[in-house]
Amino acid sequence: MNPDETLTLALSKGRIFDETLPLLRAAGIEVLEDPQTSRRLILPTNRPGVRVVLVRATDVPTYVEHGGADLGVCGKDTLIEHAAAWGGAHVGLLEPLDLGIARCRMSVAVPADFDYARAVRQGARLRVATKYVAIAREFFASKGVHVDLIKLYGSMELAPLTGLADAIVDLVSTGNTLKANRLVEVERIMDISSRLVVRPTALKVKGGLIRPLLQAFAAAVRADAD
Ligand code: PRP
Repeated sequence: MNPDETLTLALSKGRIFDETLPLLRAAGIEVLEDPQTSRRLILPTNRPGVRVVLVRATDVPTYVEHGGADLGVCGKDTLIEHAAAWGGAHVGLLEPLDLGIARCRMSVAVPADFDYARAVRQGARLRVATKYVAIAREFFASKGVHVDLIKLYGSMELAPLTGLADAIVDLVSTGNTLKANRLVEVERIMDISSRLVVRPTALKVKGGLIRPLLQAFAAAVRADAD
C-alpha cells in the first residue's frame, strides 16, 4: 500500500485509549484488538490503511512530531510539558481539536494538617513534588510563591507523607487517591482534557484521509456536548 494512503494513530493504554474508541467508531473505525488481552503494540483496524500504535502517554507528542505516527491523542498536561521541554517554539504539532475526553484537573495538594494558605501568606519557600514541572513552575511564579521543585515520575502522593515535599502538583480526577493518602486539594491550576494532535506535514500529504477523520471526531465531540 502507498504510504501516503496509510494512517497511524498514537494512543496510550488506559483511559485515553478507552475514551477514544467511541470517537473512532463515530468515524467508522473499529480497532480489531484489545490492548488488555493483546501484547501487540500495533493494532489493526477494520480500515486496511489505518492502524493504532500504543505508546506511553508522554511519548505521543514525540511519535507524532517525528513521524512515528501521523496523529495522536494526549492530555493537555502532556502537551504543555512536552513543549516546555523543547523550549516551546520548537514543537511542530497542530492541535486542531479538544476531544473533551479523559477530563481531570491539575491541582496543588497538601497533607490535611498543613496550613497551605498560611505558608503562602507568610512567603514560605515550599518544596513541591511533581511530574509536571513546567506547569508547576509557571503557576507558582504567577502567584509569586517561591518553590523548590522536586521532579518525580509517579506516586507523587507519597512525597508529602514521607517528608520529601510540603505539597504536590498532580492530576486529580475522582479525588480518591488524594483522599486515600490524607491529602487535600488546595488550588486548582487548570482543567485538563485530551487533544488530537497532528503533524503538519501529515495533514498536508494525507489531508484526504485526515480531514474526514477530524470532521467525524468534531461531530462526535459536539454530539457528546449536547
Ligand atoms: C493519576 C494521578 C493520581 C490519580 C488521580 O495517576 O497522578 O495519582 O490518577 O486520580 P483520582 O483523583 O481519580 O484518584 P495515574 O493513575 O494516571 O498514574 P500515574 O501516577 O502514572 O500518572
